[in-house]
Amino acid sequence: MREYKIAAIPGDGIGPEVISAGLQVLETLAGQDGGFKLGVEHFPWSSDYYLEKGYYIPEGGLERLKQFDAIFFGAVGALNVPDHVSLWGLRLPIAQGFDQYANVRPARVLPGVKSPLANGKDIDWVIIRENSEGEYAGNGGRTHRGLPIETGTETAVFTRAGVERIHRFAFEIAQKRPRKHLTLVTKSNAQRFGMVMWDEIFYEVAKDYPDVKVDRELVDAVTTRMVLKPHTLDVVVATNLHADILSDLAAALSGSLGIAPTANLNPERLFPSMFEPIHGSAFDITGKGVANPIATFWTAAMMLEHLGEKPAAERLMAAIEQITANGVFTPDLGGHATTASVTEAICKVLADQVKKAA
Ligand code: IPM
Ligand code: MG
Repeated sequence: MREYKIAAIPGDGIGPEVISAGLQVLETLAGQDGGFKLGVEHFPWSSDYYLEKGYYIPEGGLERLKQFDAIFFGAVGALNVPDHVSLWGLRLPIAQGFDQYANVRPARVLPGVKSPLANGKDIDWVIIRENSEGEYAGNGGRTHRGLPIETGTETAVFTRAGVERIHRFAFEIAQKRPRKHLTLVTKSNAQRFGMVMWDEIFYEVAKDYPDVKVDRELVDAVTTRMVLKPHTLDVVVATNLHADILSDLAAALSGSLGIAPTANLNPERLFPSMFEPIHGSAFDITGKGVANPIATFWTAAMMLEHLGEKPAAERLMAAIEQITANGVFTPDLGGHATTASVTEAICKVLADQVKKAA
């Protein structure tokens, strides 16, 4: 039997609620399929843990994490810890330390879900976010602190190797999709060094993928295209910050941030990859039991696919779509369902799938 070691890091806010729902669904799938088993270990790394211990990741923590096949991550961010401290304390050390340079963010309006766009059905995108450098490189500083002449710098770092590998990754994804279309997003009119290099390297890499149609859009312009002509986009590749912003817009246009999944991949598999819902901690609903677990289920499907369990991933996606089509919605989607009732509904659909197949 194939066995995968999963590191669960529920983290903050609604993270523990959705990760526990996700694990319940994963265990159901593993139990039914019979082909694979999950060995799950929980890591208590969170902002509460940080406030108690003074660190998010204990010494040797990354080395331990490295032994796992995948990381199932909830959310990080708390009201009593500055956001930049929690981000640089937990999520970025894992994503950057494990060279998870390819962040994959699919967006699509699931059956039964209402997009704020009239033509929302046309949304079927994958946003590829550079996830290891750029605006998140951590390169900058503060000088003359507290004085009227105080200065803050935040330098985006783009390396040829970093840019080339994310473009190549995006082309590979685009090539496998029916429309085979990749849109390059930068801001190379205003930013004439790093961004122009992005554009240049993109067209160099494009030569190796003659069957992929390409076009180019400035980041401000692509927001209007996402809203007004969603059918003209397929795969989008953009920098760390640009794609961060575009993927929130994509999630909102797809109906809810409570649906959007993401995978932080180390495509070479030298390190484990990390899978997380996009939504974050969501303190306003923490502890109320109404967090939408769909983003985490979709995330779990991406994790299964990465682990090589494609049939299970497809079954899970089909179950998710059946549930949304039936209108089993948490409040973010306008319904009254709870995290638990959506989870039960999915597990029931999974059980019915097995009965049907038998
Ligand atoms: C995301 C989030 C994070 C990011 C936040 C929590 C720092 O918005 O994954 O998109 O910007 O990377
Ligand atoms: Mg974001």
